[in-house]
Amino acid sequence: MTAQLPARVLVATRNAGKLVELRPMFAAIGREVVDLDSAGVPETPDEDAIEAFDTFEANALAKARHFHRASGGLPTVADDSGLEVLALGGAPGVRSKSYATAAPGQSQTQANNDRLLQALASEEDRRGRFVCAVAFVDADRELVVRGETTGVITREARGAGGFGYDPLFLSDDLGQTLAEAGPEAKARVGHRGRAFVALTAALGAVPPSGPSAG
Ligand code: IMP
Repeated sequence: MTAQLPARVLVATRNAGKLVELRPMFAAIGREVVDLDSAGVPETPDEDAIEAFDTFEANALAKARHFHRASGGLPTVADDSGLEVLALGGAPGVRSKSYATAAPGQSQTQANNDRLLQALASEEDRRGRFVCAVAFVDADRELVVRGETTGVITREARGAGGFGYDPLFLSDDLGQTLAEAGPEAKARVGHRGRAFVALTAALGAVPPSGPSAG
């Protein structure tokens, strides 16, 4: 099914946690991952403005298009992801990365997690889901797929693995937080792993539409 996925793919993210998760997924199907640094795409101050849309899908596609161009045409994968909490009307959602304002000396992740716990302090319904949209762009094709995983927000952080909100997300599938789960378990049931599976399936089904194609 993955015959249409090129041998080398630019995985366009500045988030080290995402790269750590995505690299082995591509390696497992024999694809080489090129990251932005090795592709020679320096970080620019305006990059955050690329993902200003209201949906994960639109943001992922905007990032993939941008980095496809910026890399000089490498087949490019970009993800946009985040946490949606039912009792918060879907927040932090597409704004998950900068949900809170970090105090001096505080990490963005710590600030985000503190704000989330605060927002749910008196809430019994703690259900949420992680969403990941993955976009693929090359010279001939553009496509976007989605993966999701459900869970509940804990009352305190648990576990040291993963990144971002993982210590606060008790996975329905695993019965432990995504920071307690090992990388294989997170890849198997996680939103990014599920989006990756959807991507390989979708690419297999979408042939390149070059000038000579139908
Ligand atoms: P993006 O770079 O705009 O896609 O922002 C993604 C943000 O969502 C991250 O900075 C995290 O705060 C959160 N997030 C996305 N995926 C995960 C995950 O797998 N675990 C924990 N937090 C995540």
